[in-house]
Amino acid sequence: MKVAVLGAAGGIGQALSLLLKTQLPAGSDLALYDVAPVVPGVAVDLSHIPTDVTVAGFGADNLAEALTGADIVLIPAGVPRKPGMDRSDLFNINAGIVKNLIEACADNCPTACIGIITNPVNTTVAIAAETLKAKGVYDKNKLFGVTTLDVIRSETFIAELKGKSTSEIHVPVIGGHSGTTILPLLSQVEGVSFTDEEVAALTPRIQNAGTEVVEAKAGGGSATLSMGQAAARFCLSLVDAMQGKDVVEYTYVQVDGSEDAAFFAHPVRLGKNGVEEILPYGELSAFEKKAKEDMLEGLRGDIQLGVDFVKG
Ligand SMILES: NC(=O)c1ccc[n+]([C@@H]2O[C@H](COP(=O)([O-])OP(=O)(O)OC[C@H]3O[C@@H](n4cnc5c(N)ncnc54)[C@H](O)[C@@H]3O)[C@@H](O)[C@H]2O)c1
Repeated sequence: MKVAVLGAAGGIGQALSLLLKTQLPAGSDLALYDVAPVVPGVAVDLSHIPTDVTVAGFGADNLAEALTGADIVLIPAGVPRKPGMDRSDLFNINAGIVKNLIEACADNCPTACIGIITNPVNTTVAIAAETLKAKGVYDKNKLFGVTTLDVIRSETFIAELKGKSTSEIHVPVIGGHSGTTILPLLSQVEGVSFTDEEVAALTPRIQNAGTEVVEAKAGGGSATLSMGQAAARFCLSLVDAMQGKDVVEYTYVQVDGSEDAAFFAHPVRLGKNGVEEILPYGELSAFEKKAKEDMLEGLRGDIQLGVDFVKG
């Protein structure tokens, strides 16, 4: 299994790469690519950790080499938020970065599974899809927006609120990855119940959790360590699935015939070739139905922005 991390010298990239170095199955290869000159050093640093995973660093001129033979590509390259910004403010810089990196994926590892972390995910995933289509190599089963951070945040906050172990709490989170498009289905969390007041307070806390980190870091960036953990969980689930295990993760994927939006986070059964089956997200409470209806127009607009960016 070869995993390439693009943007590997950044806050997320380094945390993610550390977790993959220590948790990928023995015999895996980790390729770290970044335009920052420190990337070979990050690779050397990680290579001193005694696991049976090889690590190689690739600088600005060696993207093709980093990608050749990759089974999974994870993309956290780009700029993060500062206080006062929302994710859509990142579009102008990150859209072009994602388009260029995806073009290189199309040229060098057209059958790899690709996980997009770069914000605004609602839009960058659509950019990636259109870019792959233009290159004639799009496989909707192999492109994912990584929304796992919304899931792990929800699990943490609910476990804290209800005095449970985090291992007991599993939270479905559907929709997109920005503000009100993030929709945790609290009505479906097994083993706990919530009052209307709790739902009304917890839902926006989960939706704004990224901003909590941005403000606490006071200009020093956005979530990197929790995002590294979230992306590692997603990647390791994908690896497990590619090796034959039965795995379901919530992730933002193309959903044909969806009444919601062309891309929507669903529970997804993963398999050897990426998406094996997009599962239904089940019954919503009245609160969740309204929250979903209220956010759909915004999410569809975010997706269209990505389509227009590539099609011009
Ligand atoms: N999906 C999520 O849940 C989630 C959560 C947090 C952050 N993010 C997003 O992840 C992205 C990265 O965040 P970060 O905190 O790691 O930022 P960072 O600034 O610490 O790191 C970004 C890295 O990308 C590199 N980079 C920039 N352009 C590149 C290019 N063309 N090719 C390769 N590398 C390039 C930079 O050199 C840097 O090392 C941001 O867009 C952020 O908004 C997503």
